[in-house]
Parts: sequence; C-alpha cells; structure tokens
Amino acid sequence: MKTIDLNIQDAVYFAEKEYKNLDAPSTAALTTLEEESGAGNDFLGWQKLPSEISAELIGRINKTAERLRENCDYVVCIGIGGSYLGAKAVITALSDNFADMYAPAPKEPKVLYAGQNIGEEYIGELQKLLTGKRFGIIVISKSGTTTEPAIAFRILKDMLVKAVGADKAKELIVAITDANKGALRTMADKEGFETYVIPDNVGGRFSVLTPVGLLPIAVAGHDIEKLVNGARDMQRTTEHPSPENPAQIYARMRNALYNSGKKIEILVNYNPKLHYFAEWWKQLYGESEGKDGKGIFPASVDLTTDLHSMGQWIQDGERTIFETVISVRKPAISVRVPENAENLDGINYLAGKGVDEVNKMAELGTKIAHVEGGVPNIRIEIPALDEYSLGQLIYFFEKACGISGYMLGVNPFNQPGVEAYKKNMFALLNKPGYEAESAAIQAKIK
Ligand code: PA5
Repeated sequence: MKTIDLNIQDAVYFAEKEYKNLDAPSTAALTTLEEESGAGNDFLGWQKLPSEISAELIGRINKTAERLRENCDYVVCIGIGGSYLGAKAVITALSDNFADMYAPAPKEPKVLYAGQNIGEEYIGELQKLLTGKRFGIIVISKSGTTTEPAIAFRILKDMLVKAVGADKAKELIVAITDANKGALRTMADKEGFETYVIPDNVGGRFSVLTPVGLLPIAVAGHDIEKLVNGARDMQRTTEHPSPENPAQIYARMRNALYNSGKKIEILVNYNPKLHYFAEWWKQLYGESEGKDGKGIFPASVDLTTDLHSMGQWIQDGERTIFETVISVRKPAISVRVPENAENLDGINYLAGKGVDEVNKMAELGTKIAHVEGGVPNIRIEIPALDEYSLGQLIYFFEKACGISGYMLGVNPFNQPGVEAYKKNMFALLNKPGYEAESAAIQAKIK
C-alpha cells in the first residue's frame, strides 16, 4: 500500500520534553475517540464512514452524477463551510489548473460554487454566466436553515424554474440535508427533488466522505471509490494507539509545539492545486479546536508564491509559528527548463532540469532556512495528487483532529462560537423570533 509519509524530525527537537510528556495523553485521546466516550461522542460517525459506506450508495451517487453530467454544462454546488469546502478542496486538487478557462465539453460540466458568501456581485455575476446555459444545482445544508446557501438557492432555483419549467428543474436539482429536519428537507420533499441524507452523527466539517463531498466530486468526473479506498486504508492505519500511528504522532507533535509556545500552525503547499485543501484543513482545525480560549490558529500559505509576500514574516517574525508542509512526490506532467544560447536570464544552470526538481530544491532550501530561523517543520509527503492519496490525507487529518482536540481538552465536534454572528445578523435583519435581540442590538449601535 503506497501511503502518505509523515516526518517530524525537524519539529520534535523544538519541543522534545513536551513531546515525551504527551505520549500517554495521545494514547488516551485516541482511545477515547475509538471508544466513543468523550465530549461530542454523538458526532463520531465520520470515523467509520470509509469502511461502512455501501457499494449501493456509491453506485447511486455515480448515477445521479451521470444524470447531471449529461444534462448540464454547469453544476452549481450551493453550501458553506463543511457543506462545500471538502468538495472544493478535492475537485481543485484533481483538476487542471486552467480548467475554468476551457469551455465546458459534453458530459464534462464545470462545477461552480454559490452560497459560500453573501456577495451581491458574486451571485449577480453567476446569474449572468448561467443565463441561457444548461445548469443544475446541488444544494447542501445539514441544518437546512443556513442563511447564505438559502439565499443563493432561492435565487438560482427561481432562475432555473423560469428557464426550464418546474418539472425539468426537479430533475436538475439535488438536495443534500438532514433526514427529517430543516427548511431544506421540507422544501425538497414538497417539491420532489432527489435527496441524499447527511448522517446525524457526522458534523459538517467531517462530511466530505458522505454525499456532501462525494456527489460534487463525482459530478466533476473524479473516482469517488478510489477516494474512499484511500480513506479506508488510512482508517485502518490510524485505528489503534501505536508509536507508528501517523495521526497520533501528528496530534502529539502539534500539541507539544503548542505547549512550547508555538500558537500558529501554517499549512504549506508547493503545488497551487492544494490551495483549497488548506482552506478545508483550516476549517477542520479552526472550528474543532478554537474554543474555550484555546487552540492553535490554523493559517496557510502557497509556496513558493507566498515566500515573496509572507516569507519575511515566517523567517523573521515572532517565533510563535510552526509549519506543516504537504509535498507531492511526483508531478503528473514533465516540463523541463530549455537551454538558451545567449543565457541572458542567467538560468542556464537549470537547463535540462524538470521544473519540479527546482521546486523540490526550493522546498528543501526553505525548510533548512525556516528550521534554522526557529520554525519547526512537520512534513507530509504524498505519492501523487490523486484520489487515493487525497482520501488518505483527508482521513489522516480528520483522525488527527479528533485526537488533537481531546488532547487540548476541548470538544472538537461542536462549534458554539459560530452562532454569535448569526444571532446579531438575524437581530439586525429583524428576523421573526428575534424581537428582543433586535431591540438590544439597535440600542447598542445608536
Ligand atoms: O462544520 C460545520 O458544522 C459548519 O461549518 C457547517 O458545515 C456550516 O456552518 C454549514 O452548515 P449547514 O450545512 O447546516 O448549512
């Protein structure tokens, strides 16, 4: 089994004592997770998703994806947070960098996103793009009541119904939501959309291996079975406490660094296709750990791009950071630097080298500089940017997140802080039921 390779040797010596002290706590945290005896244990369904997903469900998802692929040139995924980031992370990682610059081809729809912001220009310009086009909608909301996707869905559903009629629109809309609760469930049942269920015991940011992530990924033409296989193999690898368990090692290392004063973790990639993977990772760790006045702040950079913007800070700024690098062993394409007789640009010393060879030396050089500059470096190498490796990586980070959150002493599976902005927004918008909050907030802003 080719697997991801975790290397902590350039991190551990920054926090040797702390790392040693966390041996037993990391085992205890993993045991609590496995035994489902800790805080938030009603949200642990993600742990067994890869081994328990049925061939029937995968087959059904692929069939729905095929229908959308045949009938649409654009499929808009409507959702926010955990209801879109996993799909976007995987689709971006597996797609051509310039995919969006090509026109849609038959049975190769473009996957677009909406409901992940409340930008009027964003939704207006999306409407402009979709006018006169064959499009479908996958609307995703576990609660079925989130405002951002609800606005986008109302606007785009109206547009679709006007364009193709209510009966045809029904075939082009798929809703993924709770089995029983929420406005989206009520609407989907009433209007007769095809639906998929987000299991009760799987929280949004842990839901990429449910239809939430799998349907959009299949619509984009990627092999969801391979993705699940990768996750399943990682599920087995990380199941039990052991000195070789990579999820346990990563969770232990990052907590050791946190305890030694490293309060910020930067997820680093050297491949722009991983940009949204970092966005998914930031949500996973930020929402899971940032609570009760605790938690490592998750940040990310795309290198070498950001060495020319954030590089100075990382090298020389406050020494409260560590980095976790995701490195892809082998690119899928080979491009070599050509020889040039005049050598006016002075880079003939690189002639004949693959671009990735240069990239790997940039990575190595950066690591040495950062470690010497006081930035601990954790490195995760994946064999290739493919479905199997991404499945492994997703499950690895999810499992490590659960362990890490328990080690930190928080409930990694709730997100009480997300409600604060919603309450104020509803009060400001005079949502029925928020009359007292409206009066209170109006008094504050006068
Ligand atoms: O991880 C989470 O639970 C959140 O980020 C949610 O995914 C996000 O708030 C969207 O919620 P919903 O799917 O209920 O619309």
